[in-house]
Amino acid sequence: MTKVYDLDTPSVTIDLDRLEKNIKRVQEMVSAKGMKNRPHIKTHKIPDIAKMQLAAGASGLTCQKLSETEVFVDAGLTDDILITFDIVGEKKTEHLMRLADRVNKLTVVADNETVVRGLSEAGVRHGKDVPILIECDVGFGRNGVQSPEAALSLARLAMNLPRVKFEGVMAFPTVGEKAVSFLSGALELFKAEGIPVPVVSGGGTPALLSLGDFPMVTEHRPGTYVFNDVMMVHSGIATWDDCALTVRATVVSLPTGDRGIIDAGSKALTREQYYVKNFGKVVEYPGAVVNNMSEEHGMIDFSGSETRPKVGDVINIIPNHCCVCINMHDKVFGIRGEDVEIEWPVAARGKLT
Ligand SMILES: Cc1ncc(COP(=O)(O)O)c(C=O)c1O
Repeated sequence: MTKVYDLDTPSVTIDLDRLEKNIKRVQEMVSAKGMKNRPHIKTHKIPDIAKMQLAAGASGLTCQKLSETEVFVDAGLTDDILITFDIVGEKKTEHLMRLADRVNKLTVVADNETVVRGLSEAGVRHGKDVPILIECDVGFGRNGVQSPEAALSLARLAMNLPRVKFEGVMAFPTVGEKAVSFLSGALELFKAEGIPVPVVSGGGTPALLSLGDFPMVTEHRPGTYVFNDVMMVHSGIATWDDCALTVRATVVSLPTGDRGIIDAGSKALTREQYYVKNFGKVVEYPGAVVNNMSEEHGMIDFSGSETRPKVGDVINIIPNHCCVCINMHDKVFGIRGEDVEIEWPVAARGKLT
């Protein structure tokens, strides 16, 4: 069996014990609140991991893009998928309808009239209903209708158009006061109008910490929890020991007493930062920081570390954001201890359309 130290660098390894533990833990957290778990596969882009999530009790999957969804459908994951992205234009609605023919239930979100009308026209062309959720901007400042009233009026439009089937509302991330008041306000409005809202879809891994604030949510969409990363540790939902994904990199130079250079730069780790500093956590040297990078070089400042590696040593970096990191790699290696148990192609990497 291949050993982890036989792997070339840079390479991505997944600690399978941690992966399995993360899947089980979050399934239990979501189930304990009486919610369905609909994990977002954009984190891993690997059908086998989606199968593990479903085997652990997930009720369905979330995908972000059509071509990404297609990879999972091709792998036989055809039961229940939600696409959390506005599908705009006939080229894409045709793609959606081809996928809908292969999936038992394929739902999409919409946050504007153009999208809802386009979905209706596609449904009419194909003689098939398109289930939709109205996306609400509950504080993130990305897409989503801007008020409960706007959610109601878009739902009304959907209900008056042929072949779109209003099924509920969706939001990301479901955290904070504003999200609570937006969703409860919307549900009150719908109730007053006598419109049933069977699905209230919430999401986010840090949002798992406050599931209790959202009793109205019927399903939750966590993504990053399968691997975790620097951002998840920073948010308090994970510890370093819950981080399953690391980038193995070789120290190729130590140009000064404090500076080390590794063979993993922005093309292996990405420059993603969001709300954290630096570019990744060095597992073996807790006081060291990946403080800069170019495409193929990572610069590590060892001044805060009592010890130093040698040129040729291999070290592990936990990336800031595992979801974008994995999209940079053709394959990942599932490891248990020193053994490489499995090699997974990142099947949906680069599937952005
Ligand atoms: C629409 C949507 N739902 C769910 C998620 C999963 O969130 P997280 O990666 O925090 O678990 C994301 C992540 O980007 C998302 O965009």
